[in-house]
Amino acid sequence: MKKVSVIGSGTMGNGIAHVFAQNGFSTTLIDINPLALEKAMATIKKNLDRMLSKGTISEAQLNQTLQSISTSSDLKSAVADVDLVVEAATENLEIKLKIFKELDELCPEKTILASNTSSIPITKIGSVTKRPEKVIGMHFMNPVPVMKLVEVIRGYSTSDETTHAIMSMSKTLGKIATEVNDMPGFISNRILMPMINEAIFSLYEGVAGVEEIDTVMKLGMAHPMGPLQLADFIGLDVCYNILNVLFVGFGNPKYAPCPLLTNMVTAGHLGVKSGKGFYDYSLGTKDLIIASRFKKPELQS
Ligand SMILES: NC(=O)c1ccc[n+]([C@@H]2O[C@H](COP(=O)([O-])OP(=O)(O)OC[C@H]3O[C@@H](n4cnc5c(N)ncnc54)[C@H](O)[C@@H]3O)[C@@H](O)[C@H]2O)c1
Repeated sequence: MKKVSVIGSGTMGNGIAHVFAQNGFSTTLIDINPLALEKAMATIKKNLDRMLSKGTISEAQLNQTLQSISTSSDLKSAVADVDLVVEAATENLEIKLKIFKELDELCPEKTILASNTSSIPITKIGSVTKRPEKVIGMHFMNPVPVMKLVEVIRGYSTSDETTHAIMSMSKTLGKIATEVNDMPGFISNRILMPMINEAIFSLYEGVAGVEEIDTVMKLGMAHPMGPLQLADFIGLDVCYNILNVLFVGFGNPKYAPCPLLTNMVTAGHLGVKSGKGFYDYSLGTKDLIIASRFKKPELQS
């Protein structure tokens, strides 16, 4: 595989294009929004500059990486002769199904179609194409140039050949690929989201305060970040949507989002992106605890 297109140039798409280009793939970054493409190229350049200043890459590698990326808003010409498409567009079922139907029409027969979705079933995405055996999940982690894991998700109809090709290509990107089957939340979110939800329930029930919960998990379990701070970073709306995918997908109430999470999302407190979540980011610090009315209970003497 030599030529790759990445659809969607947001948080994940720019990182995915960066990693492919840095590892010698001719990469086209596609977005319907030209401003998003401009912003993505600026982000890639900034991240490469940081790597250069740290000595992780040479100036020649920086230039080679930038030269390997082109941008486009024309899907037809951008996927006409590619070996692989990685879709990283907005997490919305209708948008993704429309993109994959179009890709199936536009791409040559050889092209593998991968999705970076966090929660939409790969089997469902594959079912709208005439090549479900060539449709697979390539779930990169944020920030893509830094995080080692690619969770490779095998849809019900994904072939061995496609799976092997993507596992081996992930290695050439310097990543560690792990194969999992297509079930709600895959492995990453099936385990992470219930942990975050349980942390929110602990706060809601007054077992402990925001900082106490995060401190226990950071210092006690050696997590680099507490679950409530992590939820703020992921986006509380994203956590809420993924929990609902697990809840509906398994039909099991243990995955139902905590009422406090539902309220915070309804109120527009989405975490870092809205400036407020479990912490307040409006002052550039996380000192003010928004959900402070859910304090830890007073100790009985
Ligand atoms: N953000 C994360 O931490 C994270 C982690 C793992 C996986 N993901 C998954 O990655 C995907 C992208 O997430 P993101 O956070 O980068 O989203 P984002 O909102 O930052 O970017 C999405 C981009 O897709 C573009 N887009 C929308 N419809 C399009 C179309 N039809 N054609 C081309 N471009 C289109 C938008 O203009 C936008 O620039 C989602 O499926 C998400 O679940 C996100």
